[in-house]
Amino acid sequence: MSFVVAIDGPAGTGKGTVTEILSRKMHLINVDTGAMYRCVTLEMLNRKVGLQELDKITKILEEIKIELTNEKGKQFVTLNGEDVTEKIRTKEVTSLVSQVSSIREVRLAMTGLQRKMAQGKNVIMEGRDIGTYVFPGADVKIYLDANVEERAKRRFKQNQEKGIDMSYDEILANIKMRDENDKNKEIGALKVAEDAIVIDTTNKPIKQVVKEIKKIIQEKQKAQKLLEKIYSIRPETKWKRFVSKMTKGFLGGLYRLAFRVRITGNIPETGSYIICSNHINYLDAAAIVLLNKRMVYFVAKEDLFRFRLLNWLAHVFDIIPIKRNMQDMEAMKRCLKVIKSGDLLGIFPEGTRNGLEKNGKAKNGAAYMAIKTGSPVIPVGIHGTFKPFSKVYINYGEPIDLSSYKGADKEKQNEATKLIMDHIVMLTKKEN
Ligand code: DC
Repeated sequence: MSFVVAIDGPAGTGKGTVTEILSRKMHLINVDTGAMYRCVTLEMLNRKVGLQELDKITKILEEIKIELTNEKGKQFVTLNGEDVTEKIRTKEVTSLVSQVSSIREVRLAMTGLQRKMAQGKNVIMEGRDIGTYVFPGADVKIYLDANVEERAKRRFKQNQEKGIDMSYDEILANIKMRDENDKNKEIGALKVAEDAIVIDTTNKPIKQVVKEIKKIIQEKQKAQKLLEKIYSIRPETKWKRFVSKMTKGFLGGLYRLAFRVRITGNIPETGSYIICSNHINYLDAAAIVLLNKRMVYFVAKEDLFRFRLLNWLAHVFDIIPIKRNMQDMEAMKRCLKVIKSGDLLGIFPEGTRNGLEKNGKAKNGAAYMAIKTGSPVIPVGIHGTFKPFSKVYINYGEPIDLSSYKGADKEKQNEATKLIMDHIVMLTKKEN
């Protein structure tokens, strides 16, 4: 598994400096994607290849070998075996690089290389399109910004230190031109990712920016560790069963003290069933898990496990984490294992709380698994306000046999889901 921190933003916002410091402090591999576009530009200049000569550019892309290495916190760039760390920062390269990086073939080749560089590693990658195009699923997305005059001032100072001869006005014009060009690229245009954290560095010392990003990364790493924990299945030991039984007894008792629970119907004592309930409150799943003699293995969205206590409870009750908005094959496998072992699987077909009320379409997962495994569905209708000492109604329905749907296509699965939901809705109206 890799961990990707994306640092995007226009030139002169401090991306390079911040990335270098953070890579050192947090043991992340530093990937400066701008340096990669600069290498292609330098090679084009070396071979005297023009922007229109696509054949020759393609050949360069096939032959070029770019390496980024870090020594004592400083990044070195090697192009075809030669150290070009300084050469890629010259005026000639800087003036041309934005146009080179707009060439479709160049972008695709560099993007491919960048994705490969991050495979299975923990990286901090700086550029323009990392959080939007190269790694839209990056773990942390930061967008650094600053006003253009401040950025030009910084670059001017940097260049002077490196002995690069460019006036302030030249730099300002170049940055404005690159900003414009970078924002209007066909692929990987410079823009703020929807889920990026924007930091304006205009009046902020680098130290402060580093501190802020470090905190964001640390929080994410902590949350990730918790999530990883939930994916590691704990072996079925006697101790685990004991803890599970005790916790269930204790919390079940508390539940009955907190609410006046009214249960109708039941779950058969043996056999595999898929328990499908409406979802109005986090406490409804608890009612099904805690107030049953048998163990119900519930499916719950992954985000829930970011809370330490819930993460622990999820382990105790073997809750199956599921990633939202995607086909989570791992979760599906775990669900099928529960059913094949003759146990009870719990699912909220609405996928979210109050999905019925929001007129959302119920998900086909439960129907799909019931049809695939031949395991009947037990519909459950829950209602109540979940205010302390109020009545909570839990109505179990008769098992629904979906075997006549065998080989169902999407349309038929929709039909089966509707059938389940109709039963659930009926049961939510039952009071006793
Ligand atoms: O960060 P830099 O100034 O070294 O980047 C040089 C150029 O490369 C910049 O003008 C835009 C381009 N670039 C890009 O298009 N996409 C990236 N991910 C990184 C840089």
